Amino acid sequence: MANISIKTEEDIKGMRIAGRLAAEVLDYIEPFVKPGVTTGELDRLCHEYMVKVQDSIPAPLNYCPPGYTPFPKAICTSVNDVVCHGIPGDKVLKNGDVVNIDITIIKNGYHGDTSRMFFVGEPSILAKRLSEITYECMWLGIAKIKPGAHLGDIGYVIQQHAEKAGYSVVREFCGHGIGKVFHEEPQVLHYGRPGTLDKLAAGMIFTVEPMINAGRREIREMGDGWTIKTKDRSLSAQWEHTVLVTETGFEVLTVSPKMPPPPAFIQQTAATPAAAA
Ligand code: MF3
Ligand code: CO
Ligand code: CO
Repeated sequence: MANISIKTEEDIKGMRIAGRLAAEVLDYIEPFVKPGVTTGELDRLCHEYMVKVQDSIPAPLNYCPPGYTPFPKAICTSVNDVVCHGIPGDKVLKNGDVVNIDITIIKNGYHGDTSRMFFVGEPSILAKRLSEITYECMWLGIAKIKPGAHLGDIGYVIQQHAEKAGYSVVREFCGHGIGKVFHEEPQVLHYGRPGTLDKLAAGMIFTVEPMINAGRREIREMGDGWTIKTKDRSLSAQWEHTVLVTETGFEVLTVSPKMPPPPAFIQQTAATPAAAA
């Protein structure tokens, strides 16, 4: 079993601020995600907003886990068949593209990590459905979070929902503990069996960030050392929140005024952002 840290009250206060700032970058960038914009321009705008408006630090910039080269940009932009870790650059977004924008900021030493899907112009029926199912997967997983529940409970509901829709769950990447460290224990798998893996306790903070493919689950890494695509070139979607385990359930930390509401079937409690906002 993993060694999962329990955050202090002070940590939790810091993580609420970091989470909100990360989500607010997504609110800020939304109107710029239009046909004709480059992913590099989206990166430039987000980077400037973090540094100049928020006085926050983009965590991806020069991030260099063992075996990797330093990530060269401030955000990740993953378009169409890119699963995750897309590097912003000259790519021009066109009508019908779907892009995941993944923001991680550092404020007062604490990390906030969140991503959303954006449609460029009009999405295809498939892209829309894949994004919706993936969003539901994330929320079904989050809704399982409470003291005494197991990490496997989260993975199970995500996998069930994705596969029932005819989609597949990427296995090589997962959610993660987060705090003063970007990626820490535990690993939060997006597949699994109920009642397995670590038991949750109040004060844990981790992300839920399912990557769901319209086709097969296999992936391949591009020559840049970061970009991950689906092997069969099928579309991939991802949504991400950073979540605190509370005494009674969960609190989503990556909340902001323009965040999409939880799906209607998610029980509205004090822990869900619609009530917290
Ligand atoms: N934000 C990603 C996550 O959710 C990690 C990106 S690492 C980077 O864990 F270096 F590519 F930015
Ligand atoms: Co993450
Ligand atoms: Co992220």
